[in-house]
Amino acid sequence: MSDSTSLTEQLEATQQRAIADFSQAKNLKELDALRTQYLGKKGVLTDVLKGVGRLAPAERPLIGQQVNSVKQALNEALGTATEQLQQQERQQRIEAERLDISLPARRQSTGARHPIQQGLDEISDIFSRMGFTIAQGPEMEDEFHNFDALNIPPEHPARAMHDTFFLQSDDDVSRLLRTHTSPVQIRAMLKHIKANGESPLAVVAPGRVFRCDHDVTHSPMFHQVEVFKVGEDVSMAQLKGVLQYFLSSYFNQDLPIRLRPSYFPFTEPSAEVDMGCVMCQGKGCRVCKNTGWLEVLGSGMIHPNVLKSVGLDSERWSGFAFGLGVERLVMLKYGIPDLRLFFENDARFLRRIGA
Ligand code: PHE
Repeated sequence: MSDSTSLTEQLEATQQRAIADFSQAKNLKELDALRTQYLGKKGVLTDVLKGVGRLAPAERPLIGQQVNSVKQALNEALGTATEQLQQQERQQRIEAERLDISLPARRQSTGARHPIQQGLDEISDIFSRMGFTIAQGPEMEDEFHNFDALNIPPEHPARAMHDTFFLQSDDDVSRLLRTHTSPVQIRAMLKHIKANGESPLAVVAPGRVFRCDHDVTHSPMFHQVEVFKVGEDVSMAQLKGVLQYFLSSYFNQDLPIRLRPSYFPFTEPSAEVDMGCVMCQGKGCRVCKNTGWLEVLGSGMIHPNVLKSVGLDSERWSGFAFGLGVERLVMLKYGIPDLRLFFENDARFLRRIGA
């Protein structure tokens, strides 16, 4: 066998082996290693070519041609294998990075006012539109504003009606968490008289109040709105008209109301206010205990002693006042069955009512 024949055979064998190896490469990195192994400077093909020097000059061109065709075949095989591996790797990546677009997106939840705050705002707004000024007072009160000025003297049995949270204080003033919003009557009247002299005023005072009560229908902290008007001709008829308008407006329906004689130290005469039951339209149900009426607030004409306590002449000035419980009104408006829902802060509840 001549040298050229054996070289030819070597080249053919190399070509076959290389093409088989290329097609079996598992990834592009392996394929690249094979490229160097066969076609690199120190590769198999270079080795084979070292034999060319031993050939007779006449035989060299033929072998040269064969070498070129082997290189070409190898390069073609490499191209095909590269393409296949690229395709395969792309496919693998697509599989690995597949997104499950059927998964529901995460919702961005927007905030809402707490139902009680919403109630305080809605109620205050109605009075605001009627011309009442919004006022606020401190949650930590003194006995003068919470009791004495409201015609509740120290020995008066009405002080027992409010189970009060008294606070420790360093001075002579006895402080407490206010048991109702009525002390804002005193503060607002004093402030008004100081700034404007004796003149009419109408005030709505929303706020937080505290009583030593805790059971299913009582929370130690709850909310009230105090409403009062002082003028030279303020009458009980005006009180009834304002109440009628307010309740119908808050509940978005024409509601009958009735006043029942009652007693509060700071009003005379005093009246409990009932409205037609919003659950059964007055027909009688569990909520109104089959009476058709719901007791919603306490009211009356401001007691002359209260007017006197801020220095007003009770012969000239008169006023009406009422105080309502916000939790109860919000519960009735939205059909909320349990007071505790307001304080548990379960987001599902807050989201359903809040706005
Ligand atoms: N302050 C009274 C209470 O908390 C409510 C009230 C206010 C009654 C004004 C009459 C007039 O029970």
